Amino acid sequence: MKNNNRPTWLSDAIFYEIYPQSFCDSNSDGIGDINGIITKLDYIKELGCNAIWLNPCYVSPFGDAGYDISDYYTVAPRYGSNEDIKQLFSEVHKREMHILLDLVPGHTSVEHPWFKESLKAERNKFSDRYIWTDSIWEEPDNMGTIRGISDRDGSCVVNFFSHQPALNYGFYDPDPKKKWQMSTESEAALSTLEEIKNIMRFWLRMGCDGFRVDMAGVLVKNDKDKKGTIALWQKIRKFLDEEFPDSAIISEWGEPDKSLQSGFHMDFLLHFGSSHYNDLFRCEEPFFSPEGKGDISEFVKKYMINYEKSKHNGLICIPSGNHDMDRLARSIHGDNLKIAFAFLLSVPGAPFIYYGDEIGMRYIENLQSVEGGYNRTGSRSPMQWDKSLNAGFSLASPEKLYIKQDESEDRPDVQSQIADKNSLYNEVRKLISIRRSHPALHNYSEIEFVYAKKNAYPLAYIRNSSNEKILIIINPAKKEVSFSCKYTPKEKVYSFGSDLKYADGKIIVSPCSAGFYIT
Ligand code: NOJ
Repeated sequence: MKNNNRPTWLSDAIFYEIYPQSFCDSNSDGIGDINGIITKLDYIKELGCNAIWLNPCYVSPFGDAGYDISDYYTVAPRYGSNEDIKQLFSEVHKREMHILLDLVPGHTSVEHPWFKESLKAERNKFSDRYIWTDSIWEEPDNMGTIRGISDRDGSCVVNFFSHQPALNYGFYDPDPKKKWQMSTESEAALSTLEEIKNIMRFWLRMGCDGFRVDMAGVLVKNDKDKKGTIALWQKIRKFLDEEFPDSAIISEWGEPDKSLQSGFHMDFLLHFGSSHYNDLFRCEEPFFSPEGKGDISEFVKKYMINYEKSKHNGLICIPSGNHDMDRLARSIHGDNLKIAFAFLLSVPGAPFIYYGDEIGMRYIENLQSVEGGYNRTGSRSPMQWDKSLNAGFSLASPEKLYIKQDESEDRPDVQSQIADKNSLYNEVRKLISIRRSHPALHNYSEIEFVYAKKNAYPLAYIRNSSNEKILIIINPAKKEVSFSCKYTPKEKVYSFGSDLKYADGKIIVSPCSAGFYIT
């Protein structure tokens, strides 16, 4: 499937991910809310981002921080109301920005009324909304289940945590001996699909611009090659093209060759899966550390395979981080964070900046788990705006905060970084503005790697649009390096660290530096 009819706003969209719990608390209860987000839209715009991804904000018992939904159609009271979010959409649009909500189509909370109905022994409309075996003693291979809490005889398949029962979209290859394995064309599977479309319709009509889709690749079960899941998403994309052609969808999938074929406009590279994304920032010897012991070659190899397969089909997005991964600043520090952003903001795909990464917010070590966060809790602490109480996040007493804040005296904050012209914030802002003003750096413009050797530095690539070609040279290592290149850097567009030198037909690159040159 070709994704040619894409929303035009995606070509230079730069996203900012907001974790609503932790962004800005407007009513002093210790937890972020929608009205708080509205007060910070100018900040996001000023940074240069023109799109937002908002993590789940629906009614939920919050056993997985809101990824366990019990009412898809209502904003959780702790964040505000449906009227508030409608206002948020309109404030976003007033600023010529776009906003994606989080769609969680794979599972609900055990508190969802559908699940409560499906627990009952007597058959009803929701008996097959989830995947139940025919007997409590039967558990499907390689799938977790909920067992022993229902009058109904059976085990219910879960999708993630054991309180997140999997919605039924059918099996790609149902075993005929197991009646409970329904086909993707069964009435039950189709009615789940219709319900998800209704949910999307509801929020799109209210004014959101699309969705980040949770665990998009695992909806159809027994689907080794993902053919069933791909077909399912193609149906959804068709419905979006017909009814909401300007809306966008991005998948949490991590296999762009499959997800973009499914009709997603974009897919994330993630901390799991086979993309080698972790080689960049999150492994023992990350490429972006000054030690210079990293290896980017496997990442580039894999990236190019995906890129070639999906080049005309959509975007491969390399996020700075997200609410599930360690903060970028846990392993990359100081100037190397600037160099990391020079990379993140010069590759194709839509950039995604996780809130606070633009000021180098730290991973908070040894926190007790909050709402199913476990080790992820340290990446979800409240935003640090200034030097006032709770770093300006909330006026509640500190012990009431959703998650403990960074307690170190030198914790970064927005206000100080805006005032410091050498701050990470100001570098990120500069990089965003350069990206937006050069078509070669836009999301769909092409990339060609010119130097990405095993265990070697620098990394160099060309970005290309119909009217310009930009050579990017990235050297996170604290040593001078050199490489041969068929392109000659002419006019400088951006540099950090010092400029290039030449010797013996080679380009010599300074330690810890990054540069963009028109060639
Ligand atoms: C991925 C989400 O990003 C994560 O936070 C959540 O726990 C799981 N999916 C389950 O929904």
